[in-house]
Amino acid sequence: MKTRQLGRSGLGVSAVSLGCMGMSMNYGEPRDRTEMIVLLRQAVELGVTHFDTAEVYGPFVNEELVGEGLAPVRDKVTIATKFGFDIDAATNKPTGKFTSRPEHIRAVCEASLKRLGTDVIDLFYQHRVDETVPIEDVAGTVRDLIAEGKVKHFGLSEAGAETIRRAHAVQPVAALQSEYSLWSRDPEADVLPVCEELGIGFVPWSPLGQGFLTGTVRPDQTFNEKDVRSWFPRFTPEAMKANMALVDHVKAIAERRSATPAQVAIAWLLAQKPWIVPIPGTTKLHRLEENLASADLELSAADVEELTASASKVEIQGGRGTGHEEYK
Ligand SMILES: NC(=O)c1ccc[n+]([C@@H]2O[C@H](COP(=O)([O-])OP(=O)(O)OC[C@H]3O[C@@H](n4cnc5c(N)ncnc54)[C@H](OP(=O)(O)O)[C@@H]3O)[C@@H](O)[C@H]2O)c1
Repeated sequence: MKTRQLGRSGLGVSAVSLGCMGMSMNYGEPRDRTEMIVLLRQAVELGVTHFDTAEVYGPFVNEELVGEGLAPVRDKVTIATKFGFDIDAATNKPTGKFTSRPEHIRAVCEASLKRLGTDVIDLFYQHRVDETVPIEDVAGTVRDLIAEGKVKHFGLSEAGAETIRRAHAVQPVAALQSEYSLWSRDPEADVLPVCEELGIGFVPWSPLGQGFLTGTVRPDQTFNEKDVRSWFPRFTPEAMKANMALVDHVKAIAERRSATPAQVAIAWLLAQKPWIVPIPGTTKLHRLEENLASADLELSAADVEELTASASKVEIQGGRGTGHEEYK
């Protein structure tokens, strides 16, 4: 497995890393815990050195799963987790609000360390910008946690260019994690340029378009109520039918390169910048192997150009599922 540097942070990770959210939520029922622990360890054997989780995944259980799965190889891997979603203490359910008060960040850090069974968080992201707390206070709190040895690197997720600059001035940001794929190209406008200027790595989430770009989702498919795609606007039957035009372009390049559409979708991201590290999520070994192989799929400049141009011509139907189309 090739490795990449997340900007100028000094954090080196597998070029394709693993998003662990789907093991515990968002794509139907949580998967079998024992099987997921086996999968995490197989990922390490296949060369994955960086794993992405968050307090809110589950909530809580995904961090515990990742911590247990990686415990035997903890010194060989880096773990990213995130704070910033408000979680109701009585129900353990996210309230839909964001919270990044300094005392809250500290409490999440302690709780995450415990759940991960580790003494340091390699990369601690603010999951969503909390407009009620100045970003300088958030960055300052993470800077203090770094000084105390509890955190190694600071990250932001779904933040806008101005917020990134302000945070970076207080504590250098190692990585920006936002949705980025052939059908979600918003970071190209302002966020990728600011990352390049400041030497910040970029971690695209949902690099496979929640599975849609792999060509395995049918337009007439229905989703379980615990699957976010049952309410995401891009996954209505009408939107999927229209959005298939993009998948057709991905498939055309895949055929030409004797690769799969998933591999082309990931390779397209890798081709954008050498400091981009996608984190495709999967719960299946054969798909993990397939996704990791994209690190070795080098698309020609002409392939990348053609795919970028043809993707730009497809008017994607339905907004992203975040409910917040604009960066804060
Ligand atoms: N910062 C944020 O706000 C944020 C938000 C969302 C996600 N994330 C992170 O990003 C990671 C990845 O995002 P994601 O899981 O939402 O989306 P994704 O990686 O774009 O797609 C995951 C979906 O694609 C399927 N899949 C994976 N590989 C496949 C392949 N080769 N062929 C066909 N289907 C395939 C998976 O199903 P199977 O499991 O059945 O393979 C799953 O349904 C998450 O795990 C999480 O760590 C971060």
